[in-house]
Amino acid sequence: MDKKLELGRLASKMQTAKLPLKTNLVFGEGSPEAQVLFIGEAPGAKEDLLGRPFVGRSGELLTKTIEEIGWKREDVYITNIVKRRPPENRDPSPEEIEAYTPYLAKQIEIINPKIIVTLGRFATNYFLPELKISKDQGSVFKYEGRTIIPQFHPAAALRGTTVKNKFRKSFAKLPRLIKKIS
Ligand code: URA
Repeated sequence: MDKKLELGRLASKMQTAKLPLKTNLVFGEGSPEAQVLFIGEAPGAKEDLLGRPFVGRSGELLTKTIEEIGWKREDVYITNIVKRRPPENRDPSPEEIEAYTPYLAKQIEIINPKIIVTLGRFATNYFLPELKISKDQGSVFKYEGRTIIPQFHPAAALRGTTVKNKFRKSFAKLPRLIKKIS
């Protein structure tokens, strides 16, 4: 089946499924044929308002850094572990993460990306619970046959120059990595 259609069906299923959090669904966006999938934590206020992932300040930095490596935001796919905004931007609970897990798993199966870039601690530890983002960001890991690169969350990169520089440096590795595993 067509990937776009399959993703649309999955999004419709999520709209009617009994899931925690009552804010707007932020399913994800980008190319269904993307080779690279970026996964954040959960939508913030602006994302909730617009129904799109990473469209606030963190999103601006993410988009800019994607463009700096010569890619376009619309050619990758961007989503979150939890697809509705937790109140007051609190961390998603283990129960919320668990409830949204089957949908994320299906989304990954449909897109079938070559690389998953996990943005921040939540997304990284969802796949690889033993990793420490400060130590492991920018390194390459395997998870169920897929390549995973943990990166700092762009919100962390916005808080300080040192983290921002590391964030950009790790992004710069992506084009070569994708060529290597193609
Ligand atoms: N932070 C996230 O983790 N995801 C978004 O979509 C926006 C901010």
